[in-house]
Amino acid sequence: MRDIQLQPSILASDFTRLGEQVLATAVAGLTHIHIDVMDGRFVPNISIGLPIVQALRPLADEHGLFLDTHLMIVEPEKYITAFARAGADLLTVHVETCPHLHRTIQLIKEAGMQAGIALNPATPTTVLEEILPDVDQVLIMSVNPGFGGQTYIPNSTNKIRRVRHMVHITRSSAKIQVDGGINEDTIGEAVQAGAERIVAGSAIFKVTRADGSIAENIQTLQQATAVAQQLHL
Ligand code: DX5
Ligand code: ZN
Repeated sequence: MRDIQLQPSILASDFTRLGEQVLATAVAGLTHIHIDVMDGRFVPNISIGLPIVQALRPLADEHGLFLDTHLMIVEPEKYITAFARAGADLLTVHVETCPHLHRTIQLIKEAGMQAGIALNPATPTTVLEEILPDVDQVLIMSVNPGFGGQTYIPNSTNKIRRVRHMVHITRSSAKIQVDGGINEDTIGEAVQAGAERIVAGSAIFKVTRADGSIAENIQTLQQATAVAQQLHL
């Protein structure tokens, strides 16, 4: 059975209690923190950036956490060194922002980080054909990037399935990540289609039930994952 990793997107967290909330996900057993960086140009929203990565680095070191940084910015190559210095472990760039994608991937690796590439919902998987051997992670956006709390786009499931097939036939070691609209109703199909790194913001940090806590929200998603994996057998 494939190892499934649930990754909290801190975009949905309470920023006045960021450290405490990240810690709550760590205590619940999660090890990868998803950090959404937006520039108001590639996407119509501005979020967080280098200072937050830098602030989380000591906490990540103390608790063995991995900082997965999702850049939704134009010209991401300009900031590779800065994110490496701030302490990012993995940098994902959008293929739509990189005319020289291969070079950008090499620069990320040379800076000592793992490299991921993200595909917008309308970007075809054929874009992966030449670059798949060079990346550590492929991020399938299951909403249009820019905002948390959106609805999962149903076609994402087929897209994940196609990427899983490409990874399989090319014997690639790239991990498949899905991001956007993941909740207890959608996580199952994403897992069954072959996603293994599952990003969730609202479903983890927003209280979904009157008595829900971060730990309970994580447990709900893990239970839905377990059910989906059993169905898959
Ligand atoms: C969207 C971001 C996502 C977002 C997910 O542009 O890349 O990581 O935070 O949020 P939810 O899980 O609420 O859809
Ligand atoms: Zn993201």
